[in-house]
Amino acid sequence: MAIPTKSPLPLGLVVLSLLSIASAAIFFEERFEDGWEKRWVKSEWKNDEKMAGEWNHTSGKWNGDPNDKGIQTTEDYRFYAISAEFPEFSNKDKTLVFQFSVKHEQKLDCGGGYMKLLSGDVDQKKFGGETPYSIMFGPDICGYSTKKVHVIFTRNGKNHLIKKDIPCETDQLTHVYTLIIRPDATYSVLIDNDEKQSGSLYADWDILPPKKIKDPEAKKPEDWDDKEYIPDPEDKKPEGYDDILKEIPDPDAKKPEDWDDEEDGEWTAPTIANPEYKGPWKPKQIKNPNYKGKWKAPMIDNPDFKDDGDIYVYPDLKYVATELWQVKSGTLFDNILVCDDPEYAKSLAEETWGKHKDAEKAAFEEAEKKREEEESSKDASISDDEEDDEANTDGDDDEEAEANESSDDNAHDEL
Ligand SMILES: *[C@@H]1O[C@H](CO)[C@@H](O)[C@H](O)[C@H]1NC(C)=O
Ligand SMILES: *[C@@H]1O[C@H](CO)[C@@H](O)[C@H](O)[C@H]1NC(C)=O
Repeated sequence: MAIPTKSPLPLGLVVLSLLSIASAAIFFEERFEDGWEKRWVKSEWKNDEKMAGEWNHTSGKWNGDPNDKGIQTTEDYRFYAISAEFPEFSNKDKTLVFQFSVKHEQKLDCGGGYMKLLSGDVDQKKFGGETPYSIMFGPDICGYSTKKVHVIFTRNGKNHLIKKDIPCETDQLTHVYTLIIRPDATYSVLIDNDEKQSGSLYADWDILPPKKIKDPEAKKPEDWDDKEYIPDPEDKKPEGYDDILKEIPDPDAKKPEDWDDEEDGEWTAPTIANPEYKGPWKPKQIKNPNYKGKWKAPMIDNPDFKDDGDIYVYPDLKYVATELWQVKSGTLFDNILVCDDPEYAKSLAEETWGKHKDAEKAAFEEAEKKREEEESSKDASISDDEEDDEANTDGDDDEEAEANESSDDNAHDEL
């Protein structure tokens, strides 16, 4: 929040901007400074199966500011579930902003990086993949096919996925994901303060049946001419057109000198395609003067549509949470915000991610260089070590097969 102390602006404007910032309601803001553990509850989900992973409070292996810590998943093939409570509120008549940053240091090939808002009363110790949520938002990556930003709204117990595609970031750097929902039932999705998608809750989700439908009674009138082009009635086949042969004797062919008519039979030149031949005659096509365009059924009001002016409202939002399955760990969340002011969210993103992104990128490139150097020197050294490595890898594979299955189950339950 940069409020200039010595402002060159006229007083009126200064007062206005102070007012607008002062009016921002911040329902939840987590920068993971000291004391964060008091605010967050680690779920016991998957503890019994020994499949619950540990979080690390860290700024990660590369970062733009070692003091700006978040929470990072640390164990492979594990489930993670954690949540924090805030004073319950309704977003009725308010803009709702849900924002966080996430970095996949592990070069995520299959796993989520999303967060959720939950409503009502939730037993945070039991929170997990099956716990009902109100909003799920953020990146999800699996293989080549899934690299997207989820925006899922739950209404009356049903999950509604966004119908538009929003590609997510796939690199190993920090990115800020912002969801804005406004009282006029419009929304925006931003990545790194850049709007990637926007529209209406009515149109981009199937939360309510569509307002308008094609009139199912309407029929195309019999005399509707929907041919855009017709054969030109004026066009006539040129005289002699059909006399042009498809193939002609090759004019360049010559009877071989040693050809003996008596022994070899009468010589005939081989045939070639006739360059004059243009195929069967077809009249020219012209624009149809009676063309009326493609027929479309008229749209009518959908009798099944009942407007819900509160389509965007969640009356008892109370927790921010994430539950993840990670084949490879290393996902780091930070700077989580739930508020009513997109400008405030933007300034928080600038102040954190924006300020540090260049240094983080440089640190990442440095780390990559070091890793590549180490790998090439390892490749150069031969032998026994390698056999050991292989044995380890085999062990991992078995574990992986099992792990993937449970991941799939989890994803299906959820969507
Ligand atoms: C926590 O993160 C720091 C920095 O990346 C790392 O040195 C440390 O080993 C991590 N601890 C665990 C338990 O992963
Ligand atoms: C598990 O996932 C990994 C990485 O996504 C993949 O290489 C492997 O083939 C999968 N194994 C099974 C059994 O699906």
